[in-house]
Amino acid sequence: MAVNLLLGLQWGDEGKGKIVDVLTKDYNIIARFQGGPNAGHTLEFDGIKHVLHTIPSGIFHDKAINLVGNGVVIDPVIFKKELDNLNKFNLDYKSKLLISRKAHLILPTHRILDAASEASKGKAKIGSTLKGIGPTYMDKTGRNGIRVGDLELNDWKERYRALANKHEAMIDFYDSKIEYDLVELENEFFEAVKVLKTLTFIDSEEYLHQAQKEGKTILAEGAQGSLLDIDFGTYPFVTSSNTTAAGACTGLGIAPNKIKDVFGIFKAYTTRVGSGPFPTELFDQDGETMAQVGHEFGATTGRPRRCGWLDLVALKYAVHVNGVTKLMMMKGDVLSGFKTLKICTAYKYQGKTITHLPYNIEPENVTPVYTEMKGWSEDLTGMTDPSQLPKELNEYISFLEKELETPITIVSVGPDRTQTIHR
Ligand code: IMP
Repeated sequence: MAVNLLLGLQWGDEGKGKIVDVLTKDYNIIARFQGGPNAGHTLEFDGIKHVLHTIPSGIFHDKAINLVGNGVVIDPVIFKKELDNLNKFNLDYKSKLLISRKAHLILPTHRILDAASEASKGKAKIGSTLKGIGPTYMDKTGRNGIRVGDLELNDWKERYRALANKHEAMIDFYDSKIEYDLVELENEFFEAVKVLKTLTFIDSEEYLHQAQKEGKTILAEGAQGSLLDIDFGTYPFVTSSNTTAAGACTGLGIAPNKIKDVFGIFKAYTTRVGSGPFPTELFDQDGETMAQVGHEFGATTGRPRRCGWLDLVALKYAVHVNGVTKLMMMKGDVLSGFKTLKICTAYKYQGKTITHLPYNIEPENVTPVYTEMKGWSEDLTGMTDPSQLPKELNEYISFLEKELETPITIVSVGPDRTQTIHR
């Protein structure tokens, strides 16, 4: 009946995986709609931390079906590693993991192309996770890609060879001096494809259509964040898919009028990994404290994340583009101990004060204008009820709700499933 969306409103790493895991009990189907193994969705429960890259974050629950949608790009090698991890926990995933035939495959040469393209950019590099995401989506829109459904056809290896040969010529063109052993990479790839083929491939748009007719509840899970959207993000420092709400329509085949709630996840401050503008970035002790207390290191690449104050101008933009109906604030606990908190409510831009996101937010173009608020010192990590939240945090939340004209329905106070306060 209802399809709800859950997506990140900043530059990714907002904590989507944790919230999907928390909400899964209310849904029949969890469906990933875009991105690929550039994502790292972290879930913690029973003292164990799990990181998922491609598999939807509802996989640890007994009943929900987890669907990898057509908008996702799948690297069989990384997918196999994810399955191996699930095997360690004796998880019976086969009966509840479905893959769209229309999802595109990341080939070993896509990964090399990604690295060669980044190397050729020098200082202008995107800071890609180098998982082959960009080149795979390029082949998708270039109509050259190989899809999961092709693996059921007899001639797929010939098509693979033709595409890999083309990629090799492109890699030579970059002259990046990247060394690779394609035979070894291909052996690993073909072994992983065998494992992938043991899973159930479906026409997922039809499956979801039937599920809606039967009154099943569906949660569409986004990856990365709105400011990394290929259209609406800080281009060219973005990923290669639509991370915003419309991506769920094209990435799953869900009609826009079937979407009910859009859950927007954001951190109580801001982080970014990789290159690109970040107006509220901090280079001082405050930024260092956020990084240390918040363990701000990429779940996929381990790279340190850049940290800064909450940027309400950018957040408002993301709320508008996505039509967010409910907000969920993550990592409130990381801000405990700051005497004063700053929130960017406007930018100085071309001599004016503006409250919308302009075309160019490079540091030489925008200077953040901050509102200061009193911080709190209480440790939030053991709190379970909204009545326990400190007064200053409630004021911080109320300020954001008023500015964003959207309620904050969850406040997360730690990485564990249980550290989640519903309001
Ligand atoms: P790509 O999608 O791997 O090509 O990376 C493009 C940009 O998006 C880089 O700045 C990455 O750091 C960033 N990015 C991609 N996936 C994620 C993610 O899951 N979290 C945060 N940043 C990401």
